Amino acid sequence: MTDSEKPGLAIMTSGGDSAGMNPAVKCAADYAAQRGYAPFLIYDGLKGLVADRIFPATAERLSGIIHKGGTVLRSSRSPEFFDIEVRKKAYENLKARGIGKLIVIGGDGSFRALNQFYSDFQIPFAGIPATIDNDIAGTDYCLGVDTALNVIRQSIDSIRDTASSFSRAFVVEVMGRHCGYLALTSALTCGAEICLIPEIEYDLPSIGARVSAEIAEGRGYIIAVVAEGTKMAEYVTRYINDSIGMEARLTVLGHVQRGGSPTVYDRMMAYQFANAAVDALEAGETNSIMVYRDGSYGRIPIAEVAHRKYKMDPALLRLAVPLAC
Ligand code: F6P
Repeated sequence: MTDSEKPGLAIMTSGGDSAGMNPAVKCAADYAAQRGYAPFLIYDGLKGLVADRIFPATAERLSGIIHKGGTVLRSSRSPEFFDIEVRKKAYENLKARGIGKLIVIGGDGSFRALNQFYSDFQIPFAGIPATIDNDIAGTDYCLGVDTALNVIRQSIDSIRDTASSFSRAFVVEVMGRHCGYLALTSALTCGAEICLIPEIEYDLPSIGARVSAEIAEGRGYIIAVVAEGTKMAEYVTRYINDSIGMEARLTVLGHVQRGGSPTVYDRMMAYQFANAAVDALEAGETNSIMVYRDGSYGRIPIAEVAHRKYKMDPALLRLAVPLAC
């Protein structure tokens, strides 16, 4: 069978980029080809789908990408995709190339957009969860989280060097949007004294009393990890400086957390999710999301992702309570 006779399957990345997207693109394209599809790559996310930036997944386009952070396919957020006329253009672009299946690597907003597209034009899709926020319902893991955690760990290890040298407090604000997963995991694994996340009530006077007692016993510096979703980083910095009486500085890690070469863990997860996505489409699934839950891989219908809110494991949350009071 020539390539033009094979059924087309296109792969795209959409929404906030994260490490692990490139290995997922490569693995999905390679495995799709092994399963008898003609793989295509859509550049620039939903915008590129509409603007017809769709190309065959050649060896040239796929080689040398597995170790790269971000997404070589680039990404976008595309509010214009809400317009049916815009989606129709996207459908015609796929139809012209014989593409009847899609893999989208991104967050739940992208999955919802593709689900609407499926309702309109019956183009089945499989979703691979990818966001450093780790906030997609139904899965314990999203691509990019381990790499982001390692970037944060390395940053906090460096900050600790200067904090201890200068007997200062450092408040480190980490990303995660409304989810405290990155902050909680970083605080625990970096040995922070304080952790504030949206999911746990915090008590600043109590934190102040606890940390002051430790300073009286000889503690020389403080590390506080604060989730951006609490909007408390500046306030906590002033609180430590003015009420606890230790000179305090704020470091907002920002977009550095989204970069970096994917870790071994993210590359392996990309393999598993990508192969599962091709298998799901081959099995005739129309709109399922790949998940990793309680140590097993699986897939769930989009409805379970789109209409539910991600909830962090209560056992994990309990570990952080002592850092919030
Ligand atoms: O969703 C990923 C994320 O990096 C969040 O953690 C953060 O709040 C947001 O995206 C930043 O968005 P932008 O890249 O549009 O500034």
